[in-house]
Amino acid sequence: MYSLQDEKIAAALARLHCEAEADPERWAHDKTTMSNDLVRMGDLYLGITEAEGKLLYLLARCCQARRIVEFGASYGISTLYLAAAARANHGRLITTEVHPKKCAAIQATIHGAGLTDVVELLAGDARETLSGIDGAIDFVFLDGWKGLYLPVLNILKPKLRHGALVVADNITHSAARDYCAAVRAHDSGFVSVTLDQQELSYYI
Ligand SMILES: C[S@@+](CC[C@H](N)C(=O)[O-])C[C@H]1O[C@@H](n2cnc3c(N)ncnc32)[C@H](O)[C@@H]1O
Repeated sequence: MYSLQDEKIAAALARLHCEAEADPERWAHDKTTMSNDLVRMGDLYLGITEAEGKLLYLLARCCQARRIVEFGASYGISTLYLAAAARANHGRLITTEVHPKKCAAIQATIHGAGLTDVVELLAGDARETLSGIDGAIDFVFLDGWKGLYLPVLNILKPKLRHGALVVADNITHSAARDYCAAVRAHDSGFVSVTLDQQELSYYI
């Protein structure tokens, strides 16, 4: 058995994926959630799919990432995949979320999944909360507001371990254009590849 198959983690993931399926319906009723305003992004899940989650899990396991950082947890779908990998790697996950209601829900989910010893949630704007962390980082998942990918990467870059992997989601969004240009640049320090909606950048 591997850590994703842990009974509590699997149950939490099944619940969250199921709840996230209501997103399109709720989205249709609340156009304000399309706003760029951080908190008014609302209470939508906007979560990754099971396939994307498993990809994150196996990438983090392959890297043997012990210190993982996530930008944008929402209700914690990706958080659970990353935390399961961190647990298997005897590591820790630092995640971030700005929406107060989501922060409360994540804490409860993490507790229910038995992952409180693995996950630290930094509540608030990640540009502030991540500025304060220290220590080397092995793996980063970017899934908050797309226009902040580059500012967040710039905060984390001095702390990236050589050989770290940075995965950015939804990179076809126009707001992620400057981020993609930066990591793909010849002198970026990254080897970067685009996989459909995700940019995988290996820090050399
Ligand atoms: C696409 S959702 C994340 C989905 C999540 N990764 C998952 O798979 O379930 C983006 C989240 O990022 C959060 N967010 C956006 N900007 C943020 C910021 N500056 N700091 C922290 N969280 C932020 C939003 O509140 C939202 O919940």
